[in-house]
Amino acid sequence: MKGTLITIEGGEGGGKSTQIARLHDYLIEQGHAVIVTREPGGTPIAERIRDLLLDPDNDDLVSMAELLLYEAARAQHVGELILPALHSGTIVLCDRFYDSTVAYQGAGRHIAPADVETLNNLATCGLEPDITILFDLPPEEGLKRAKGDTAGDRIEKEAIEFHERVREGYLKLADEHPDRIHTIDALKSIDEVSQDIRDIIDSALVTQEA
Ligand SMILES: Nc1ncnc2c1ncn2[C@@H]1O[C@H](COP(=O)(O)OP(=O)(O)O)[C@@H](O)[C@H]1O
Ligand SMILES: [Mg+2]
Repeated sequence: MKGTLITIEGGEGGGKSTQIARLHDYLIEQGHAVIVTREPGGTPIAERIRDLLLDPDNDDLVSMAELLLYEAARAQHVGELILPALHSGTIVLCDRFYDSTVAYQGAGRHIAPADVETLNNLATCGLEPDITILFDLPPEEGLKRAKGDTAGDRIEKEAIEFHERVREGYLKLADEHPDRIHTIDALKSIDEVSQDIRDIIDSALVTQEA
């Protein structure tokens, strides 16, 4: 595969969207071909599944249906957008990918890790990110940032204990994949986080090209 898949992960309000926009501009300045995309979503069909998943009125969605909808959206996204972009040599910057499913549906909803892994593999055709940046911060702080005074989407509305399990799930993943997953202290300022990300991406891209 000629391109590079960079995924951005973490709980609500960590600063993923803010930093993806900055990283996109930075990589373009360096002369790379880059696309930004997101999960769930990234293609018209997958964005329709996203609407179902995030609609706060869908609070009777059962966990297994939720998992399968995320995987359906992912399969469409990988097949229609991500794989063709990687084949053409593009850097794909993706806001969430399958680590989110391990953290939210596995750790958060208590679905068996082996089942989550099987479905992740099916949906991605075995594709793995080259570089993953994990934004870590206490969920109280992230939710405050993400929701402001609003009620929040279906996931943001979950109990704090759910968001704590998601955080622990992510930190366990980072322990298990130290070469791929780079954990960032998301409590730092926006500029400090941008610099940390540039340092990580610069050295990872150099290693990849070597
Ligand atoms: N490092 C930071 N410190 C303080 N506020 C931040 C920081 N990064 C982002 N924010 C703010 O927090 C809110 C959520 O950021 P966002 O990038 O949308 O997070 P995410 O995409 O991870 O949910 C936004 O209002 C954003 O301006
Ligand atoms: Mg975001």
